[in-house]
Amino acid sequence: MPEPLDLSKLDAVLDHYRGVEGAMIPILQEAQEVYGYLSEELLAAIGKRLRIPLSRIYGVVTFYAQFYTTPRGRFTVRVCRGTACHVRGGKNVLKAVQRHLGIGEGETTADFKFTFETVACLGACALSPVLLVNKNYYGKLTPAKVEQVLKQY
Ligand code: FES
Repeated sequence: MPEPLDLSKLDAVLDHYRGVEGAMIPILQEAQEVYGYLSEELLAAIGKRLRIPLSRIYGVVTFYAQFYTTPRGRFTVRVCRGTACHVRGGKNVLKAVQRHLGIGEGETTADFKFTFETVACLGACALSPVLLVNKNYYGKLTPAKVEQVLKQY
């Protein structure tokens, strides 16, 4: 049986926003930071404590791409699919990441080490092709460099 969720951490988040109108988004952001993702149980607890229908909370969570309802890897690998990266071999970089991690886009490795995503542009086109691991940028990539980068994690 899974461990029951420790809701004391959620209470600390809610205390922080007590009396603040319209704080649902920052509360969800902070809760996600604390718990790693927004589980059904966590969202239900948030709804109950804020007296907001769960359907409304789900509406917000599913609208914004920043919210996750499934567990994520410790490291998020984001590969750029933008034009500048594409013309400089981004497709091969993407394939190398998939090959190394053994997962597809939007998936997380079984050991919850990596989550793999693609983005439209990482805002570092001069370094293309580019990927990001959490907050670290890696540019001018080749498939061989991708292997080196990911092996560091
Ligand atoms: S197109 Fe890849 S960083 Fe902009």
